[in-house]
Amino acid sequence: MKVLVTGAAGYIGSHTALELLAAGHEVVGFDNLSNSSERAIERVRRLSKRPMRFEKLDLLDMTGLVRLLAEGFDAVVHFAGLKAVGESVEKPLIYWRNNVGGSVNLLSAMRSTGCRRLVFSSSCTIYGEVHRSPVDENHLRSAVSCYGNTKLVVENICFDLARAEPEWKIALLRYFNPVGAHESGLIGEDPKGVPNNLMPFIMQTAVGLRDKVRVFGNDYPTPDGTGVRDFIHVVDLARGHLAALERIDSFTGTEAVNLGTGRGSSVLEMIRAASKAVGRPIPYEFAPRRPGDSAAIWAETALAKKKLGWAASYDLDRMCADHWRWQKNNPAGYDAA
Ligand code: NAD
Ligand code: WQD
Repeated sequence: MKVLVTGAAGYIGSHTALELLAAGHEVVGFDNLSNSSERAIERVRRLSKRPMRFEKLDLLDMTGLVRLLAEGFDAVVHFAGLKAVGESVEKPLIYWRNNVGGSVNLLSAMRSTGCRRLVFSSSCTIYGEVHRSPVDENHLRSAVSCYGNTKLVVENICFDLARAEPEWKIALLRYFNPVGAHESGLIGEDPKGVPNNLMPFIMQTAVGLRDKVRVFGNDYPTPDGTGVRDFIHVVDLARGHLAALERIDSFTGTEAVNLGTGRGSSVLEMIRAASKAVGRPIPYEFAPRRPGDSAAIWAETALAKKKLGWAASYDLDRMCADHWRWQKNNPAGYDAA
């Protein structure tokens, strides 16, 4: 297939581009580089030893989108978006314009140029506050943040569109907690500023950029009192996109599928696994719960197996070993290269 990847220079986009190239697909990527570096694309090319065209382009540039899509694509994998939950609450209009406005632009450009296959980055955040896991795709959808709202609304737009025009095939992939990096240590997550997410914070602590990890809450009703999440290796996640693309013609309009491992791990388990990968204890302290956090959430994965023929394969040790290799080799991310 000829596939357009939006947000191709980002964390999940770059890993997915690599898997698509490895599977023999033709990949064209674009990104406005607001949260990424073009070096990620150079490294994807180096690893795949295959050409990959890349353009610096913004989802809000409708003319540019139509020009690019008019080339003709079999499918689009849509990662481009802003993802910082806290920032989204402070700057809602920027998130609505970029994530929702940008996605409407993309769908309109696809429509006007005849492309009707889309794989969209949704998130487990659309399940809102979760009281029981595993969570399946029929769980009530709600959002506790502006970021979550933008994902929910884009999902709804996709459902509306495919209801109105049945030729659309749309996979809404609801990711749980992506971590890890490609085994080469050449591409990985490169957060700007102080990381919000657990794994980059752990790894920046391990490399000496932060003093200690603050564990938000040790009084949850979980086995060790800390939050439980479904951490998934980014390469498994990337392969989930490949599986979705290759099965998308069997979809009925818009369908949502969880991408997780089906296993919950606690914050302390993750710190222990990371300490093992790093070879020394990673310092941490307990801090108050973070507002808006669920105690525990992990995925029901049966639908992914059935619809996509896909299941995650990497465990926590492998996630930590690969993430650490990336962090150790690139302590300041792509900028230092
Ligand atoms: P990322 O920030 O690394 O990648 C997103 C990319 O989109 C960045 O390279 C950014 O520069 C680009 N971008 C943002 N706005 C753009 C615009 N208007 N035009 C063009 N490019 C633009 O994030 P990621 O972790 O790779 O996430 C990819 C997608 O998956 C996002 O949509 C995110 O919301 C979603 N998601 C991420 C997670 C996670 O924890 N990482 C979980 C669930 C869903
Ligand atoms: C995981 C656990 C924290 C940082 C977020 C988004 C969600 C989705 C995935 C995009 C929780 C604890 C964290 C720290 C900690 N992204 N923690 N100390 O909140 O599950 O999900 O990323 O769609 O929308 O909200 O991930 O990595 O922030 O937190 O103790 O410094 O680690 O309390 O229990 P989260 P996270």
